[in-house]
Amino acid sequence: MTKVKTAFFCRNCGAQSPKWMGKCNACGEWNTFVEEVIQRDDASSSAHRFNNAKQSAPVPIGEIKASLSRRIDTHDRELNRVLGGGLVPGSLVLIGGEPGIGKSTLMLQVALRCPETRILYITGEESDQQIRMRAERLGTTNDNCLVLTETNTQSIFHHLEKIKPVIIIADSVQTLQTEVIDSSAGSISQIRECAAELQRYAKQTGTAIFLIGHITKEGGLAGPKILEHMVDTVLQFEGDRNYGYRILRSLKNRFGSTSELGIYEMHDSGLREVSNPSEILLSSRDEPVSGVAIAAMMEGQRSMLVEIQALVSSAVYGTPQRSATGFDVRRLNMLLAVLEKRSGFRLGHKDVFLNIAGGLRVDDPAIDLAVVAAVLSSNQDIPVDAHTCFAAEVGLSGEIRPVSRIEQRIAEAEKLGFRRIFVSRFNTRESLNRQHDIRVIAVSKIEEVYSGLFQ
Ligand code: TYD
Ligand code: MG
Repeated sequence: MTKVKTAFFCRNCGAQSPKWMGKCNACGEWNTFVEEVIQRDDASSSAHRFNNAKQSAPVPIGEIKASLSRRIDTHDRELNRVLGGGLVPGSLVLIGGEPGIGKSTLMLQVALRCPETRILYITGEESDQQIRMRAERLGTTNDNCLVLTETNTQSIFHHLEKIKPVIIIADSVQTLQTEVIDSSAGSISQIRECAAELQRYAKQTGTAIFLIGHITKEGGLAGPKILEHMVDTVLQFEGDRNYGYRILRSLKNRFGSTSELGIYEMHDSGLREVSNPSEILLSSRDEPVSGVAIAAMMEGQRSMLVEIQALVSSAVYGTPQRSATGFDVRRLNMLLAVLEKRSGFRLGHKDVFLNIAGGLRVDDPAIDLAVVAAVLSSNQDIPVDAHTCFAAEVGLSGEIRPVSRIEQRIAEAEKLGFRRIFVSRFNTRESLNRQHDIRVIAVSKIEEVYSGLFQ
C-alpha cells in the first residue's frame, strides 16, 4: 500500500508545515492552514518535461540575444501602459479580480485584437461554445486565436509543442491541474505547481503567458503570495459593479512602474478603453452644490481630475463620525485637526463624510487641498465655483505644501476648461510664471484659500 503524503498549507501565504498550526508563522494569519495531498507520482514526473528539458549554461551578458526584449503590442493602450509599454515575451502575468468583473472579457478581447500573433486561449471554466458566443458579442473574430478547453497541464504542453503560440491565456489558474500532484484542482499545491510549470515553459520558449486568477471571499487572490513571487507582473482588475467602469492596476511589475493605471468602461459589446479618465471622474450636474471640490491628481504618469465630495453635518450621537471612501480616514482626521487647531474652524462636534467620486482610491497627497475645500464648502454650505480646482498638499501647521509635476496638473486642468487652480506658493517659480490660460493662484495658508473661495 502506498503511503499518502500530506502537508498543511497556509491559504493566505502558501507557507508549508508538516503539522496543523492555529497561527501561520510566516504571515501571522489565524486559522488558515488546510491539509493537502502532495504525494509525488514518480511515474508521471517523467511527463514533467519542462523541468530539465534544456541544460542551461552561463553566458556573458553582452551575448544574450536582445530580440526577446522587444515588447508585443496588445493593441490595447490601457493594458500596454499598465504592462509598462507592451507585453514582454517570456513573461508571466497574473490578472486577479472578483468573479464577474470582466477578466475573461478583457483577455478574450486582447486575443481577438491581435491578428498578427498566434494566441492560445486555454479555458477550464467555459466551454468553447461559450467562448464563441462571447467573441460574437465582442464583434470580432481572429483566425489566429485558438481556443483549447483543457485543464490538464501535461496535455496542454502536448498541444503547445505543436501550436507554438506567442501568447497564452490561461483562464483560470485555479482550474489547471497537473498529474505530478495528487491534490484537487484549485488547491494551493496545485496552483503553485501549475504556475511553476507554466513559468518554466514561458522562460524556456519566450512565450508570454497571462494567468487569470480569482480572488477569494476574503479579498485576496487565492494563494496570492504563492504566485506573486513567481510571476513577473501582478495586475488587479477591480471596480464597482454598480459603476460601468473598471480599473486595471499593477501591483507588481518587473518590467515597468507599479503606479500605472488602466481605465475601462464595460459596454454591451465589451470593454472600452477610457483614454480621458477625467470624463468619468467628474460628475456632471446642472447647478453647483456645496461640498464638492475638484483635485488635479496624478496616477502614475497620468494626470487626471477627480471630484471630492464631503458632507459635514451636526453629530447626532455623542461622538462625531468620520468616514471616508477612497481616502485614508487617518489623513482626513489629520486635515480636520489642522482646520480646527490652525485655522479655527469648529468641526470637532460635526460628522464628516468624504467620498472620492467614481469609487477611485487615491493616495496622492496633492488632493489634500481639495479635501479641505470640500469640507469647508459643505460646512459653510457655499458651493465652490465649478471652474476651480486644487493641487496642493496640506501640512500639519496648516501650510500649503508644493506637489510634484505641477506643470502637468495645471495643463490637464487647463485642457478641461477650468479657469482657476489653487497651488502652493512654494511650487517652483518658473512653472508658475509661465503664461497660462488658466489663472494659477499661489497660496501658502488655508485662510487665503478660504477667502479666495467664499468671501
Ligand atoms: P467575465 O469576463 O465573465 O468576468 P470574469 O471572467 O472576471 O469572471 O465578465 C462577465 C460580466 O461582464 C458579466 O456580468 C457580463 C458583463 N459583460 C458585459 O457587460 N458586456 C460584454 O460585452 C461582455 C462580454 C460581458
Ligand atoms: Mg471568467
